[in-house]
Amino acid sequence: MKDTNAPSVALVGPGRIGQALGCLLVDAAVRIEWIAARRLSAARSAARFIGLGGAVTLDSRELDGARVLLLTTSDSALPEVARSMAKLRPSWKGCMVLHTSGAWPAGGEASVLQPFRRRGASAASMHPLQTVPSREAGVQNLTGCFWAIEGDPEAVRLARRWVRSLRGTVLNIESQHKPAYHAAAVIACAGVVTLMESAERLMRSSGVLPRQARRMLAGFVAETAANFGRLGARRSLTGPASRGDWSTIRKHRAALRRDAPDLLPLYRELLRSMLKIAARSL
Ligand SMILES: NC(=O)c1ccc[n+]([C@@H]2O[C@H](COP(=O)([O-])OP(=O)(O)OC[C@H]3O[C@@H](n4cnc5c(N)ncnc54)[C@H](OP(=O)(O)O)[C@@H]3O)[C@@H](O)[C@H]2O)c1
Repeated sequence: MKDTNAPSVALVGPGRIGQALGCLLVDAAVRIEWIAARRLSAARSAARFIGLGGAVTLDSRELDGARVLLLTTSDSALPEVARSMAKLRPSWKGCMVLHTSGAWPAGGEASVLQPFRRRGASAASMHPLQTVPSREAGVQNLTGCFWAIEGDPEAVRLARRWVRSLRGTVLNIESQHKPAYHAAAVIACAGVVTLMESAERLMRSSGVLPRQARRMLAGFVAETAANFGRLGARRSLTGPASRGDWSTIRKHRAALRRDAPDLLPLYRELLRSMLKIAARSL
């Protein structure tokens, strides 16, 4: 149901996160009035998916009516989009600007939203600790996840309200820690995917069929992740490094040298980290 007291929102740069989040916010009665993209056709397609909002381009005068801008462009586009859109109004007093990037801070001196803040806007970021490979996947998995939030008080309050309406958990983070927080997120997500791809290649060279390898590894990694969540790193670490079994490690190295020599440096680095974890007291 539409809340007529809610501030009018323009969603800018509707990719996977923008469209999925737009959909969920509309369900939570957030008033998304405009969907703005650099191509009108992209804005129209996003508006159809979200089910609400007029499609406009980024320089449309219609956006003057928005009290909240939700920027969901790619990280690399954020500085330029912020610079050019901030110039559309002489003052952004009473307005809020939010973005969903994990790497860019919204608050503090390094804020990517500084062009808006200099003109009086309150700025915040709300980054979902979630992996969203498609807009459809986002509609499923953005509900109930963790969101890292930082920025100016008024915009932070709005971000928290939105997250609560998505049944999410708020993680308050200091603006200056965002790049490190985001590096951790990338290690845990893209890093795991990269490791799994390496393992898949080795499985295939051992004669396992690709589709079967992927299914097997997905179950295996899910179990490992669950153990990590329950027991922590030291107690969920298994394998030869945890047992100090150097004869097995030597066999691995010989196999890698033969079948996938490009993976040897990765194995060496991982082994170093495994040995450090194994040496920790419980
Ligand atoms: N996907 C994830 O798993 C995930 C998870 C958490 C947070 N995030 C964050 O959410 C944000 C969006 O990510 P995403 O995965 O949704 O990206 P995406 O699917 O690649 O969408 C990016 C959007 O930005 C637009 N864009 C790119 N350059 C632009 C420019 N110069 N001016 C205006 N619009 C521009 C693109 O529009 P065009 O169609 O015109 O190219 C597209 O709509 C990023 O900050 C990302 O770090 C993503």
